[in-house]
Amino acid sequence: MKTPNNKPIVLITAGPTREAIDPVRFISNHSSGKMGYAIAGAFLEKGFDVVLVSGPVNISLSHPGLTVIPVNSADEMYAACQPYFSIACVAVFAAAVADYKPAQVYSQKMKKSAYEFSLQMVKNVDIACEFGKIKRNDQLSIGFALETNDEEQNALKKLYTKNLDLIVLNSVQDKGATFGYDTNKITIINRDFQFQSFPLKNKAEVAKDIVAAAIKLYQQPEKPAQA
Ligand code: PMT
Repeated sequence: MKTPNNKPIVLITAGPTREAIDPVRFISNHSSGKMGYAIAGAFLEKGFDVVLVSGPVNISLSHPGLTVIPVNSADEMYAACQPYFSIACVAVFAAAVADYKPAQVYSQKMKKSAYEFSLQMVKNVDIACEFGKIKRNDQLSIGFALETNDEEQNALKKLYTKNLDLIVLNSVQDKGATFGYDTNKITIINRDFQFQSFPLKNKAEVAKDIVAAAIKLYQQPEKPAQA
């Protein structure tokens, strides 16, 4: 597996996933992909090759070191990441992946009939968690925690259950942060319980902070203990 320039590879997931209900409907979320694409841009600037596995977004980014793989669903996102995870030095899971998908995808448009309608949902693959199980010591993985409450507690739980090296906490409680905005406000947490909080910044600047934290940790002779 080769990327354009044969440089160290960073794998990034970005954007939302769409989970089909029938041929014309899906379940999704408000992710614009801006945060993930900004991280891709920041790694490219630092000379890495980037494989960007992206849900449906309205952003176009081109660079000789960039490979964009467009996907729709969580299953497609997981499958697209698979050939690249083992050859990546860093993986960043910035996508807002749907935790659940409809148990059944109808092959024809569902007709309106009863007053009430319920949809059975099943758990989606947790991409960050699955790759956390096979991560090597020479690899770094960075996840995001998108929270509405109990932010730090929830972020720490995700850091450990997904076997991440860093987690980037962002909260929808913060004005101008998370979904859709050009800005974000983050706290980067490592496995030594060190919290680095940043003010609200443009996502391009936020991405540089994340990349700087990743490079600093990657260059450390001893990475913090793994799960
Ligand atoms: O795209 P923007 O509009 O710029 O918004 C940016 C963002 C808010 C989407 C981004 O900053 C962000 O927080 N992304 C993660 C959103 C999310 O799904 O968070 P979570 O707390 O539910 O998931 C925790 C981590 O596990 C994330 O790294 C997520 O990518 C990953 N995950 C979650 C579920 C799943 N099935 N597979 C995963 O890989």
